[in-house]
Amino acid sequence: MTSKKARLAVFISGSGSNLQAIIDATRSGILSAEVVLVVSSRASAYGIERAEEAGIATAVCRLAQSTNKKKAVRQLLDTLEAHQVQFIALAGFLQLLPQEIVTAYRNRIANIHPGPLPRFGGPGMFGRRVHEAVLASGLKESGPTVHLVDEIYDHGALLEHLSVAVHSDDTPDTLAERVLKQEHKLYPRVLQKLIKGEYDLDAG
Ligand code: GRF
Repeated sequence: MTSKKARLAVFISGSGSNLQAIIDATRSGILSAEVVLVVSSRASAYGIERAEEAGIATAVCRLAQSTNKKKAVRQLLDTLEAHQVQFIALAGFLQLLPQEIVTAYRNRIANIHPGPLPRFGGPGMFGRRVHEAVLASGLKESGPTVHLVDEIYDHGALLEHLSVAVHSDDTPDTLAERVLKQEHKLYPRVLQKLIKGEYDLDAG
């Protein structure tokens, strides 16, 4: 008997190194899913090239810049539906996901954040800023966090966190590099558990 692979969409805005880790994990079997769609908020995102290289359908969706937001959201929902998307992984997607999409995919959307949550999250806390804030705090540990996505930035239920040591001579860039390597290990594993229904999402 063959078990059907989950149909996954990955949302990006930039380099897409997490997207690549997810694609690689679907190929190695760590993640029993198929990336059927990559949605980018930027047409120039390098992640789009990665998707094309892997033969994955892409869509550019500039929700924030749209003059007719309702129509843009409808189009995005239609695109997700057309590709029969079952789960969504946000991987460096720098826009707040519209309410309609959160509602349609409740408990089936994950995001990866490059620092501990909730302390180093929220609006404006992305990329380098997270690592700067961690270093400024004097914390000796940082690390990526994967959480469910709800209507508020970096707010949904925490799924998993990996601890990464902060070194005394770290700069935001060296810390970012070390954390990113762990993101690539963590995210596919968490997505696999989410898809397999291994989190008790109603608890708490
Ligand atoms: C990662 O650090 C992720 O935690 C954050 O955005 C970055 C995306 O990097 N949400 P990449 O595009 O996957 O390389």
